[in-house]
Amino acid sequence: MSPDELQGLAQQLRLPTGDVGLEVADHLNRGNAFIVKRSIEHLGVRGGERVLEIGMANGYFAADILGAGPGTRYVGIDLSETMVRSANALNGAYVAAGWASFLHGDALRLPLGDDLFDAALTVNTVYFWDPLERALREIHRILKPGGRVSIGFRPRHIMRHYPFVAYGFTMYSDNELTQHLKKAGFGRIQTMEYAEPPRDFDGTLLEVATTVVSAIKA
Ligand SMILES: C[S@@+](CC[C@H](N)C(=O)[O-])C[C@H]1O[C@@H](n2cnc3c(N)ncnc32)[C@H](O)[C@@H]1O
Repeated sequence: MSPDELQGLAQQLRLPTGDVGLEVADHLNRGNAFIVKRSIEHLGVRGGERVLEIGMANGYFAADILGAGPGTRYVGIDLSETMVRSANALNGAYVAAGWASFLHGDALRLPLGDDLFDAALTVNTVYFWDPLERALREIHRILKPGGRVSIGFRPRHIMRHYPFVAYGFTMYSDNELTQHLKKAGFGRIQTMEYAEPPRDFDGTLLEVATTVVSAIKA
């Protein structure tokens, strides 16, 4: 891929927009199923809980969270208006039933009150949050005391080989993300790293790994 194409891809990963953004979201749902599902598992949602997902793209995995049991409620927030529209369309039945809602908003200024959620999830988003700690403090604010957060991301030692990260991605090691969570007020921080099969990117085989860091609002 040319530098211009890589930059375009990086922009769409950061903010999927328009028809290309809709295609990118479909691609992400296939390519990120493992990391999203592991991150949901680590959250351990129980029926009746209120869950926030930040950067849900088209909300393809909202059903996995709602499957935790009766009374579970899901809110998704994304900076991309294209993604919020698409998530509302894809999850229309859940939205109509009042089980799910999708909002346009920024992780750095969540349009939500304090102490509202039992659990919060975000996957493949921390690279774009500047400063990261502000968004982590926002997650801490909207969680109830004892609320859980689960963050899925590709760790720096894997991601630094991806050709598009030169265009606006900030990468983190497991330890760096743990330190940021501590500073934002979280405790009982646990990290798991999983290997995934390598993938072809534009003719080059790239290593893939998932890190999930989970923590509790002290
Ligand atoms: C790379 S996609 C990841 C989508 C999905 N979570 C996954 O792992 O496949 C990043 C998503 O985060 C959203 N996003 C980026 N910056 C954001 C911010 N500051 N606040 C909320 N959402 C943001 C983008 O619009 C996009 O939908």
